[in-house]
Amino acid sequence: MQELVGTLAQHRTLDDEGLRMLLETEDGTLLQELHERARGVAEERFGKKVYLRALIEWSNVCRNDCLYCGIRKSNGAHRRYSLTQDEILQCCEKAWAQGIRTFVLQGGENPPAARGLTGTVAAIREAWPEAAITLSLGELPDETFRRLKTAGADRYLLRHETASPVHYAKLHPAGMRLETRLQCIRTLKELGFQTGMGMMVGSPFQTTEELIRDLRLIERIRPEMAGIGPFIPAKGTPFATHPAGSADKTLRLYSILRLMFPSLLIPATTALSTLLEGGRRAGILAGANVIMPNFTPPEHRADYALYEGKSSDDPQTIEQELSAIGYGISPSRGDYQA
Ligand code: 5AD
Repeated sequence: MQELVGTLAQHRTLDDEGLRMLLETEDGTLLQELHERARGVAEERFGKKVYLRALIEWSNVCRNDCLYCGIRKSNGAHRRYSLTQDEILQCCEKAWAQGIRTFVLQGGENPPAARGLTGTVAAIREAWPEAAITLSLGELPDETFRRLKTAGADRYLLRHETASPVHYAKLHPAGMRLETRLQCIRTLKELGFQTGMGMMVGSPFQTTEELIRDLRLIERIRPEMAGIGPFIPAKGTPFATHPAGSADKTLRLYSILRLMFPSLLIPATTALSTLLEGGRRAGILAGANVIMPNFTPPEHRADYALYEGKSSDDPQTIEQELSAIGYGISPSRGDYQA
């Protein structure tokens, strides 16, 4: 069992049984080795430096009704909002002034609105030619993806949520299909987006089996980014009373992914720090290398409640937290480099 981490580090993969052991073991020494080894690989690639991405939650209008998500269409608890182009540019301005070189526009799935964002993407591209633009707008027609790319977007985050079609069907309403999601992810890669996948840890009905399938899918598709956080129950959703996922398991997945894919961009997610005090630091020490401070205008943040108690911190707080563990913030755009 003690060779598992060495084998994973050397071969950058492991058989299902090995992955299961790493995900389920209660051997503290083994876990410590897993995290230390992953941290070492991250440090070799990136130094003790973390990339910051400014998260701009531009709209909570969504056509979908995902059973876990607080901004699902049928949740009447939130005031629905969309930022204007001017408001979005102001968020970018603020982030740029604080040294952040990636802007992430995230929103509910709303294809006409996403198409309408093309002009905003072009305006950001023109105003900050050196910044990276990341989009996270759900499943869109290929043609919209293409327009957004042409307008200047560089990256796209579209979590697959779970690699099992049966599990996917338990998390989503009829009509949403894993295959559609994966087809979008393939299209994004073909269009030249740096592409992000990812899943929730401990979503209802998930077992270790599903997590292993998630890792295999990531191995097959080879995204540039992987966004992974624990499931956290959200008010006004069918899963409101399901227990939250595990922070510990999330950290194990960061480490396993770091050892499988040394160059992968892995954020220590907001969901993790919402669930675990000091979660961001723990994430970095487990091999993550990205943090996404929130630049959504404060008056809209409560309405972008994907789950309960969602935390958000400013770059200064993050910088202090990082310096306490000997880490700093990278001044670069932080593109994927194989
Ligand atoms: N808990 C944790 N993560 C969630 N997401 C949505 N709802 C929740 C929740 N209740 C994640 C999904 C989605 C991303 C934007 O947020 O993985 O892809």
